[in-house]
Amino acid sequence: MYRTHNCGQLRLTDAGSSVTLSGWVSISRDFGSLTFVDLRDRYGITQLVFDADARPELRQQVQQLGREYVIRVKGVVRERSNKNPNRETGDIEIEVNELDILNQSKTPPFTIEDNTDGGDDLRMKYRYLDLRRNPVQQNIIFRSRLAIETRKYLADQGFIEVETPFLIKSTPEGARDFVVPSRMNPGTFYALPQSPQTFKQLLMVSGLDKYFQIVKCFRDEDLRADRQPEFTQIDCEMSFITQEEILNTFEGLAKYLFKTIHNIDLGDFPRMTYDEAMTRYGSDKPDLRFGMEFAYLKEAVSGRGFAVFDQAENVIGIVAKDCEDRFSNKDMKELTEWLQRPQIGAKGLVYVKYGKDGIKSTIGKFYSDEDLQRIGEVCGAQQGDMLLILCGETEKTRKQLNELRLEMGRRLGLIKEGAFKPLWVVDFPLLEWDEDTQRFYAMHHPFTAPKQSDIEKMKSSDRAVLGNLRADAYDMVINGVEIGGGSIRIFDKELQATNFSLLGFSPEEAERQFGFLMNAFEYGAPPHGGIAFGFDRLCAVMSGQNNIRDFIAFPKNNQGRDVMIDAPSAIDAGQLKELGIEVKSQS
Ligand code: AMO
Repeated sequence: MYRTHNCGQLRLTDAGSSVTLSGWVSISRDFGSLTFVDLRDRYGITQLVFDADARPELRQQVQQLGREYVIRVKGVVRERSNKNPNRETGDIEIEVNELDILNQSKTPPFTIEDNTDGGDDLRMKYRYLDLRRNPVQQNIIFRSRLAIETRKYLADQGFIEVETPFLIKSTPEGARDFVVPSRMNPGTFYALPQSPQTFKQLLMVSGLDKYFQIVKCFRDEDLRADRQPEFTQIDCEMSFITQEEILNTFEGLAKYLFKTIHNIDLGDFPRMTYDEAMTRYGSDKPDLRFGMEFAYLKEAVSGRGFAVFDQAENVIGIVAKDCEDRFSNKDMKELTEWLQRPQIGAKGLVYVKYGKDGIKSTIGKFYSDEDLQRIGEVCGAQQGDMLLILCGETEKTRKQLNELRLEMGRRLGLIKEGAFKPLWVVDFPLLEWDEDTQRFYAMHHPFTAPKQSDIEKMKSSDRAVLGNLRADAYDMVINGVEIGGGSIRIFDKELQATNFSLLGFSPEEAERQFGFLMNAFEYGAPPHGGIAFGFDRLCAVMSGQNNIRDFIAFPKNNQGRDVMIDAPSAIDAGQLKELGIEVKSQS
């Protein structure tokens, strides 16, 4: 037997018991005749004591022990003289009378401790060792709990878990596909699913009614902290369902997960239309953990001879409370430069500080104190506050001010740790115009239904009218992160064809790509709709973190590489030939 207990289990009440433990040697301290070893497994750490006077026969073996050796010990639990209150097993230790070295270990490339000395790259290369560290292991355990609770909730609601294929044809989520060559059909390729979207809709045609799947999705897109090339969705679809019922069902899932896992009551989620979110926060995923809503100042600032504002399509400000004296001129310069970086692209930043000793502003030349006071009143700024203003084209200015708002929220410490602020953003636009390609794209995906009241307007050829079409599409947002998104689907073949044509698909192209779905719609497709949650994002947000990599056992780095297994990598010529693929050498 390898163990009677694990390394996080024994307490003072076990004193006097004979036990067997197995695990990894974490730290070993040699005090001459006494050697203390911290033995670790996934449950905790237990201190072992080797007494060379009492057990001289163990001395030689104990001296061989190195970090991360795998050992089994037999011994007796006893009370510790110097207790460790920070450890659950800190009241006891094991007086060892038998030691087996089960396996040796090379010295690990970084220390396996909560705060390790290993850099990012090294830890990725030795991910299996990083996963031995408690904080990383806890994230993976948390993820497992979340998956199990998700399954429980959905199963209770009558959902059926169905697996859909990975070797498929391109799906329409808007990213690039990862493709897999087919040996048996030379020159042709499967695409890995960006989501199971078309399959879950087909399952509704089949009458499965309530489907879910915790499923890998693959998207070849630029990577960020909240994006991985392969990630996991909680993917769901329901038939004979309204948007209202979908929102309630999945708000229920989020509430259930927060309650069972964190014992937090989220309360009812506020709902905000896309337009309202963009107007008030400049983002379709507003972080509601703090205020600082946008104030529209165009009217209040116009006609004072300040051409920059007079000529701007819009002038928008945010008020930072009680911080007029917290930002020096140098800070303001640095903040302005931060906004002017190409990633944000603001032209400049105007500020008004409503100080105790008067008003200070970058636009003092053009505006009297009374003017600035009046502008302050429009946006609710009071003495002690600082007003930050950006101007320009409305959409761009909103995006830039959103970045500034989030940055100010972080810098001013307005985001309370442990706070969760969910909301639904609803009524997304159906279509999104792309200037570069001069065509419309689906804002969600091509199967999303327009609002009933907007169906007629789909016949219009006016770009403004089409750009204003609204869809029965919704996102769940928590703490400024898009956790999930979905829509009511088109289930009528004609309407689907109209939508494809608005998206610039010729009937032949639509038939080639999605004919299988359109055909299925001719055999009694029920009204249906659904949603998919980013499972990795949910794990990170629920843990108050923002890098989803920490919640994926074997993630890719920012170049999309797995440096541990060295993938992607070249394959040999024979394999390529078998696949009918010719690779031209790069010269
Ligand atoms: P969507 O494309 O919005 O919808 O994706 C759903 C959710 O998946 C998460 N997500 C990602 N997470 C990590 N890395 C990525 N690269 C990544 N891309 C997306 C987000 C997002 O909200 N089939 C539709 C859903 C539906 O209509 O039912 C879909 O995939 O949290």
